[in-house]
Amino acid sequence: MYVRGRRSPVIGRARQVHRWSGVVFTLAVLATIVALSLPDPIVWVSYLPLIPLAALLFTGLFMLVSPIRARRTA
Ligand code: HEM
Repeated sequence: MYVRGRRSPVIGRARQVHRWSGVVFTLAVLATIVALSLPDPIVWVSYLPLIPLAALLFTGLFMLVSPIRARRTA
């Protein structure tokens, strides 16, 4: 967990997952743009960004609340 005054390895891991999910999310959005602009659009591809977006949401919220929680419980 978050240790005050020291960089938490758990937050470091969450940041790493967040960063790579951001890359995957961006690629999935680009794939969606291509898939939907085809003459015969492939609609299921447009649901793919939701997977990395869910990872982004959870890791992002975790990074957001961890320091706040540590400050409140310190
Ligand atoms: C879904 C809701 C999201 C939440 C709640 C969220 C939250 C956060 C938080 C709290 C940070 C840390 C900021 C700090 O340095 O203190 C962060 C960093 C970052 N976020 Fe998000 N984020 C979200 C979505 C996204 C999306 C959609 C992308 C890109 C496609 C993204 C890309 C990044 C990147 C690249 C960083 C910097 C990571 C690093 O320092 O290595 N985030 N985000």
